Amino acid sequence: MQAYSDDRVTSARMAGLKLNWILFINLTICVVLSIAGRDFYNILGLSHSASTHAIKKAYRRLAKELHPDKNKDDPDASQKFQDLGAAYEVLSDPEKREIYDKCGEECLKKDGMMNSNMDPFASFFGDINFHFGGESHQQHQTPKGSNVIMDLFVTLEELYSGNFIEITRNKPVIKTVKGTRKCNCRQELVTRNLGNGRFQMMQQSVCSECPNVKLVNEERILEVEVEPGMVDNQETKFTAEGEPHIDGEPGDLIIKIQTIPHPVFERKDDDLYTNVTISLQDALLGFTVEIKHLDGHIVIIQRDKITKHGARIRKKGEGMPNYDNNNLHGALYVTFDIAFPDNDFTDEQKEDIRKLLQQSSVNRIYNGIHGN
Ligand SMILES: *[C@@H]1O[C@H](CO)[C@@H](O)[C@H](O)[C@H]1NC(C)=O
Repeated sequence: MQAYSDDRVTSARMAGLKLNWILFINLTICVVLSIAGRDFYNILGLSHSASTHAIKKAYRRLAKELHPDKNKDDPDASQKFQDLGAAYEVLSDPEKREIYDKCGEECLKKDGMMNSNMDPFASFFGDINFHFGGESHQQHQTPKGSNVIMDLFVTLEELYSGNFIEITRNKPVIKTVKGTRKCNCRQELVTRNLGNGRFQMMQQSVCSECPNVKLVNEERILEVEVEPGMVDNQETKFTAEGEPHIDGEPGDLIIKIQTIPHPVFERKDDDLYTNVTISLQDALLGFTVEIKHLDGHIVIIQRDKITKHGARIRKKGEGMPNYDNNNLHGALYVTFDIAFPDNDFTDEQKEDIRKLLQQSSVNRIYNGIHGN
């Protein structure tokens, strides 16, 4: 059991190392080949059969890794990042992906479907805000709109395997309209010469003229990634997707994960708990039960010993994935209770059972304080 789990962790780590190399090599090749149309699957390090989920996942991970702000020493950083954006733009859109699969980037360009100066974050994932190095200080007191906090209810299955959830946000956006308005108003001290060496000082409100604006409702599609192992109240921030501020910056949208109760499993930290009822016969003779896990795989529990009421079995590695290292899992605890037969036995059967069990009467009377 021990050896089995450790093997799995090691091989997963090796696969990770290999993947990094493959990505590195692929990216290098891609830069060379980019004139002939880019290999978007290679850029994302995926095979041609990759699911949309895998595409989003790879994109999100690489976007963090390849962001130019994080790779200032690499002269190709910006190109790599653009390639990544283009790869995502095409492969995440089923229609564009189909054309691309048929005849590559050139066809998409011909059909005018390559949005060459696309902002890699136009299709919005939360939390990819890049504040690497020199944490930018709050720009001198720019007013900010309110943050909007929203609960996102997710299933335990989604927290086990991960998922992307599309949410539509209808938010007010500031649009410029004709005319001007007073803005940036402040109090200033002005001095007025009254003649004869007399001056008057007074406070005066001074404003600038800004372009006029109005609030327009706009629909935004946001993608929230439910990452494996996330916990309740964990937040994903969408910068500037909160309430607008007429003289400043919009607030943020904060999505908070909340788990929908599951009919089979209960979660505590990274561990899962479930209950199984077995027959008295199975409790005495042994049994095999199959439990369908959150991703559909089957966990087999086999016993040939006696199982007492309330007994708990611990299956290592069958709990939730750990958020920080998805290769690590908690444990699954299975508690058994026993279903007794409904029908009474005949005198003959009772005699047989007595012979079989050979269990003298215990009849110990006890209370919970002094134990048995
Ligand atoms: C298992 O049974 C115990 C005791 O009845 C109960 O408290 C617990 O919630 C059950 N667990 C699940 C996952 O249903």
